[in-house]
Amino acid sequence: MTVELAPAPSPTAAPAPRPRIFSGIQPSGLVHLGNDLGAIRNYVMLQFEYEAIYCIVDYHALTSTHDADVLRSRTREMAAGLLALGLDPERCTLFVQSHRPEHTELMWLLSTVTPVSWLERTPTYKDKIATQPDDVNHGLLTYPVLQAADIVIYKASLVPVGKDQAAHLELSREIVRAFNNRYGDTFPEPQAVYTPAPVVLGTDGVKKMSKSVGNTIDILGDPDVIRKQVMSMVTDTKRILRTDPGRPEVCNVCQLHRFFGDDYEDIWDGERTARTGCVDTKKLLAQRIIDHYAPARERYAELMANPAEIDGILEAGADRLKPKAQATMDEVRHRMGLR
Ligand code: AMP
Ligand code: TRP
Repeated sequence: MTVELAPAPSPTAAPAPRPRIFSGIQPSGLVHLGNDLGAIRNYVMLQFEYEAIYCIVDYHALTSTHDADVLRSRTREMAAGLLALGLDPERCTLFVQSHRPEHTELMWLLSTVTPVSWLERTPTYKDKIATQPDDVNHGLLTYPVLQAADIVIYKASLVPVGKDQAAHLELSREIVRAFNNRYGDTFPEPQAVYTPAPVVLGTDGVKKMSKSVGNTIDILGDPDVIRKQVMSMVTDTKRILRTDPGRPEVCNVCQLHRFFGDDYEDIWDGERTARTGCVDTKKLLAQRIIDHYAPARERYAELMANPAEIDGILEAGADRLKPKAQATMDEVRHRMGLR
């Protein structure tokens, strides 16, 4: 969707409140290219025009990560990654989900308007049953209810996410409708906001880029690792010989060139006419990714060397949200007959 700039306020008028947006991201290791192209670029852009709230969802991560030290360090790494990629604590609020425990209370209340059948048919739940069959915990089933609570506790109306979150967002909307129907108009129906790259494929060229598949390009990682990851990318599988013409529209490397430089059409032309080979195109992409993220990589290292700075930003974020979360909880408890 396009985002229009609000008209400049008149000098005497009180500034109109900016519409609120919310997104959450799991602390599941280093941020990868899919996270950035699919979601984080929008987080950064939207913080200039909206009241933006971003959350590192450690409660959600507990459905798959069970090592306390690992979770703690990944939470900090994710915060450093987001800040390094451009989240500005002066312009947005960044916090850790478990630092605002009201989310889990609201989850319980929302779960009472959510039919179990909606949760059982959620695609991510079915995926998890397949990928972690020995650990089908109850948190996996109620995951989308917590996600809905995250969003609506701040009455956010827009949610920047990648396309893999479409089903979760639809479920959030259904939960909001169910709540509003039963208890009266309380929450806005949240809408997803996508980037021009809502699904980034991994280095295998087939599956969505994801830490759990192991097909990521770790943009804040070591340049040598990035180079290795990009050089391992699967390209157009029908281009066997160097002299065969390539098909940029089905080649993941060519697709990613769209986001790094303004000459992708020329690069595509080189592939189509076999003027360039896949290896050259990959080398160029690797270098461009390394260069593009060099300042973020530097900032990431600085932040990681100063954990107190990260923790301070996260604590301030959670504190700032306390009155908003509590106001919603007062309203919801009252509507539901708990007060
Ligand atoms: P996660 O790491 O699953 O919490 O994802 C964080 C954000 O990145 C979510 O908004 C996802 O939709 C988005 N995202 C993750 N992987 C991809 C991908 N391969 N392509 C596009 N967006 C993605
Ligand atoms: N489920 C999301 C993901 O895996 C993370 C998430 C949790 C989220 N709560 C949210 C995203 C609220 C948007 C809004 O990426």
